[in-house]
Amino acid sequence: MTIIKNGNLVTEDKVIREDLAIVKGKIARMAPSIEPGPGDQVIDAAGLMVFPGFIDAHTHLDMDNGVTVTADDFASGTLAALLGGTTSIIDFATQARGESLSQTLDKWNAQADGRCLCHYGCHMSVTDWNEAVKGELPAMFEKGISSFKVYMAYDHLRVRDRDLFELLLELRILGGLLGVHCENGDLVNAGIQRQKEQGRLDPLAHALSRPPLVEAEAVHRLLAIAKFAGCVVNVVHLSSALGMEEIRRARAAGQRVLVETCPQYLLLEDSCYKDPEAGRNYVCSPPVRSEADRAALAEAVKSGEIDTISTDHCSYTLAQKAMGRGDFSRIPNGLPGIEHRPIAILGSFWGALPAPALARLLAGNAARLYGMYPKKGAIREGSDADLAVYDPDACTVISAKTQHMKTDYNPYEGMTLKGAVRDVLLMGDHVVQKGRLVGTPKGSYLLRKAVDVSL
Ligand code: URP
Ligand code: ZN
Ligand code: ZN
Repeated sequence: MTIIKNGNLVTEDKVIREDLAIVKGKIARMAPSIEPGPGDQVIDAAGLMVFPGFIDAHTHLDMDNGVTVTADDFASGTLAALLGGTTSIIDFATQARGESLSQTLDKWNAQADGRCLCHYGCHMSVTDWNEAVKGELPAMFEKGISSFKVYMAYDHLRVRDRDLFELLLELRILGGLLGVHCENGDLVNAGIQRQKEQGRLDPLAHALSRPPLVEAEAVHRLLAIAKFAGCVVNVVHLSSALGMEEIRRARAAGQRVLVETCPQYLLLEDSCYKDPEAGRNYVCSPPVRSEADRAALAEAVKSGEIDTISTDHCSYTLAQKAMGRGDFSRIPNGLPGIEHRPIAILGSFWGALPAPALARLLAGNAARLYGMYPKKGAIREGSDADLAVYDPDACTVISAKTQHMKTDYNPYEGMTLKGAVRDVLLMGDHVVQKGRLVGTPKGSYLLRKAVDVSL
């Protein structure tokens, strides 16, 4: 048995000062005092907060974007995740057009199997909707895939509104949640062309080519389609105040809408694009927005309007980013974040939000929405003993020099954040001790269940 003594346990609705006993990888008991017997392992968590292991429900590991492959694969990505307190990730298996969903899944599993240090699962990104793909959906659920994604932008990925609608109708029957990349693809293409015609090829033109209204229009259209289909949808990586307004409007009219945002939209602002050299290292889609957008999204987090915060981790090295030197439209899109999401959010919102609300944003809500609750995302008897121990009195300075992600830069370089993720337990194994990896952790595949997605 392993006993965590004297810690502050962060459950979904309160913080309790109790001891926690772990038997065979599960939380076996929580009580004011649990005394160790001979052979028991004791972790002293006095003054520390014990959170459910964090869940990053939006990663792109070992992803080929058609030109280059992300810097992090499943080994380096999940190592970095674990050291940051993330014990489960959900990556996006992305269908290549002409490919079946089972071929896509086989490809992703071949990349991930046996390489993951934390638990992992996949969403399925559907890019080629047809009758055969529709027929494959039940098999996806049998394989533990209960969440899907479609893109409204990127010519090689996006689906028509009609396809999106038809997919939603199927998912409503099967209990699958659809996440949507909300940018109007036609407007993005026109915006890129217009910037180039004006002689703009620098990284700031990336942001100018796809302003907030391009996101807001797509959010608006998506919510109309979802309402027509009678389905809840999840707006992923929301970046703008204008997009948030669309979600507020729909919610005020009685529609249930889920929304995810990411650390880059809460901690960064678009002055990062000013330097024509360093600016490309911040190119992602949707782009990092203005300070007013950043502040508006941070307020939305505080008011409880955001359901989940994940990373959209899609990492490239400086050399890969330099493929777009002199032409912003050739810069590989995406930012690293898998390692620092928990500390970025805990450090930024500590004191502004109660610890249970932070636990829901970083773990509990994702576990519920993605069919893993209460096995994951909760501190309660019977749940898996995936735990992250946070020291609110320490401090963390983010730097590429000390990170484990395979990128050679960090968008948050030099930021000093309140607190530190000190220890991590994976199925009860004490795999991170005082910030250092111990042993050779092995994550397991997340066999996720269907969820209720009807309006
Ligand atoms: O720039 C980004 N976000 N790249 C990853 C793919 C996506 O759109 O989520
Ligand atoms: Zn996306
Ligand atoms: Zn993404």
